[in-house]
Amino acid sequence: MKPQLLAIAISMLTVACSQQVSNEKTTEQLALRKYIPEPILIGAAVNQWQVAGTCDKVESEVLANNFNCITPENCMKSEVIVPEKDKYDFSLADEFVNYGVQHNMVIIGHALIWHSQLAPWFCYDDAGNFVSADTLKQRMRNHIFTVMNRYKGKIHGYDVVNEAIEDDGSYRQSPFYNILGEEFIDYAFQCAQEADPNAELYYNDYSMNKVGKRNTVCELVKRLKSKGIRIDAVGLQSHMGLDFPNFEEFETSVAAFINAGTRVQFTEVDLSVLPNPYNLEGAAVESDFEYSLDKDPYRESVPDSVKTQWNERMAQFFGIVNKYAEHVNRVTFWGVTDEKSWKNDWPIRGRKDYALPFARDGKLKLN
Ligand code: XIL
Repeated sequence: MKPQLLAIAISMLTVACSQQVSNEKTTEQLALRKYIPEPILIGAAVNQWQVAGTCDKVESEVLANNFNCITPENCMKSEVIVPEKDKYDFSLADEFVNYGVQHNMVIIGHALIWHSQLAPWFCYDDAGNFVSADTLKQRMRNHIFTVMNRYKGKIHGYDVVNEAIEDDGSYRQSPFYNILGEEFIDYAFQCAQEADPNAELYYNDYSMNKVGKRNTVCELVKRLKSKGIRIDAVGLQSHMGLDFPNFEEFETSVAAFINAGTRVQFTEVDLSVLPNPYNLEGAAVESDFEYSLDKDPYRESVPDSVKTQWNERMAQFFGIVNKYAEHVNRVTFWGVTDEKSWKNDWPIRGRKDYALPFARDGKLKLN
């Protein structure tokens, strides 16, 4: 081949490759757009293998072609990012953020202050006792500034505080609460707004349909605003099952958060088809029940009647998203396809669940 032709061929190849990397689809063309109106972001939680491209090919294609927003499933949690005091390891978080930048996706940070998957040193001194209020505040401030400074201009918004409120509306007895009281939430948001005034700031929680939790979240939103502390949205995790949540209660919460003066987002959506004999409605990550075959009935396939139920409930969920669309930022699914959904391992390890819109073969299951 003549050198000139070779140069043209190489440049065409480069264009083709770079188009493959950046998301080729316009946001209107995303498969889920039929269910989630513009301009609501359509997100997925991603793990380190999906980001590195070492996952199943189906998953990497579904991820690159069907979402315009990503949340890190684990790699920004404090136990991963700063396992030892002052020893930050940003390697996975950097890969996650780079993936989002390369694919032209909106990037969400999850989660700055959370009692679960918490770095073991964070709230304790060398003797294993709680640190003083001042020390904890200093550590929180340092953590929030370190993370947010690193990703300034790249991360669009953060779950500043995750899961601080119980279903009955009381504050969770977490180390943060036990040391600082409910003000730890206000302090975290205050630090976050100082660290990156351009990043959106969210409070995120599960079982948001519960009346007690709803009321305290509304009070929290109002309290922050009355102090001049910014909160841009409340995140409803929305881990669902065939018999929960009660969608009437769920919708009441959505309306209540909007009335309290904030936007809403559905941040960890999935809908399990598996039996829930322990009547668990929340998503406390430490729950761990014993496996038995009767609790894992769909190893081969899901019966049509169950698929229908799943679709009906997803339609109800999308109905709420559409009804309040002008106040909704984002719908993020907690995973890419059913293959690697956390629901296969929570709250019982080793089951086969079908909780996400994209099946293991990459096909969209929604009617
Ligand atoms: C889950 C991840 O999906 C799992 O891989 C991990 O083992 C435990 O945490 N609420 C949250 C998420 O805010 O961070 C949790 O993610 C699910 C519940």
